[in-house]
Amino acid sequence: MNRPRKKEWFDNDSLWRELYPFMFSAKRFADAASETKQAVALAKARGKSVLDLCCGPGRCSIPLAKRGFAVTAVDRTKFLLDKARSLAKRSRARVEWIQADMRDFVRPGAFDLVLSMYTSFGYFDNKEDDLQVLRNILANLRPGGKCVIEVAGKEFLARNLNATKHELLLNSTRNTRLVRSEEIFDDWSRVRTEWILIRDGRAKTFRFHFTIYSGQELKDRLASAGFINVKLYGNFEGEPYGPATKRLIAIAQKP
Ligand SMILES: C[S@@+](CC[C@H](N)C(=O)[O-])C[C@H]1O[C@@H](n2cnc3c(N)ncnc32)[C@H](O)[C@@H]1O
Repeated sequence: MNRPRKKEWFDNDSLWRELYPFMFSAKRFADAASETKQAVALAKARGKSVLDLCCGPGRCSIPLAKRGFAVTAVDRTKFLLDKARSLAKRSRARVEWIQADMRDFVRPGAFDLVLSMYTSFGYFDNKEDDLQVLRNILANLRPGGKCVIEVAGKEFLARNLNATKHELLLNSTRNTRLVRSEEIFDDWSRVRTEWILIRDGRAKTFRFHFTIYSGQELKDRLASAGFINVKLYGNFEGEPYGPATKRLIAIAQKP
C-alpha cells in the first residue's frame, strides 16, 4: 500500500481548473496532432501501444488514438480527465483513461512508447521522485521501447529569463487577464511561477514550481534510470538541442 504523501502544488485541482483556458488554448490543442505525429517519427517508435503520461485534457492522447494507436492516458487531475473523456467522445476516439499519480502507475512491459509532453516532468519537491518517474517509465516499456520527454530547456531559460519576468495574457472569452512572473531558485535548479488571474476586478494567485533540467542533466537522469541511446532535440522537427531552442526533447530507449 502507498504511504500518504504530503500535498504539493499540483494537488490543487482549482489551479488546473482556473488556469485551463490559458494552459490549453485552441492553438495548443491544434498543435498536438502534428507534434505527436512528429514525436512518433523522431522516436522511430515501433508498435501501437502508447502511454500518455500526465495526459491532461487528452491533447495528445486523442490525435494518437484517432491515428490507430492503442492509447492509455494517465493523469492525477479528475477535472482534466473529465475534459479528456468528453473531448474524446466528441471526436469518437477510444482511449483508456486512468486517474493515477505518475509516481505510482506501473504496468510492466505494456507499452511501445511513453510520452511525457508539455512540461509534465520535474514536479516534485523531492528530486528523487523524478527519478522514480523515469524508473516507472522504463518499467512500463517493453524491451527496445522508447520514451519522449518534452520540457522547458534550462539553457534557453538561462539566456532569456531575468530574475523576474512579467507577462500579460488576455482571455477575451471570459474577460480574464493573467499576469505571469517567473523566477529561478534553489541553486538554479528550479523555476517558480506565479500566475495572477484577474476577473471582474478580483485577483486570484496560483504558485507552482518545477525542476529545470539542462540537456546533459536530463540525459544523466535518464541514463541513471537505466535508459540507453538518449538523444536530445530542440523541437519536434528534429532541430538539435541548444541554448536557442525553447524546448528540450529527450528521446531514450529501454535496453
Ligand atoms: C502542463 S500539463 C500537460 C498535459 C499534457 N501532457 C499535454 O501535453 O497537454 C501537466 C499535467 O500533469 C498532470 N500532473 C501533475 N502532477 C501529476 C502527478 N503527480 N501525477 C500524474 N499527473 C500529474 C496535471 O494534472 C496536468 O494534466
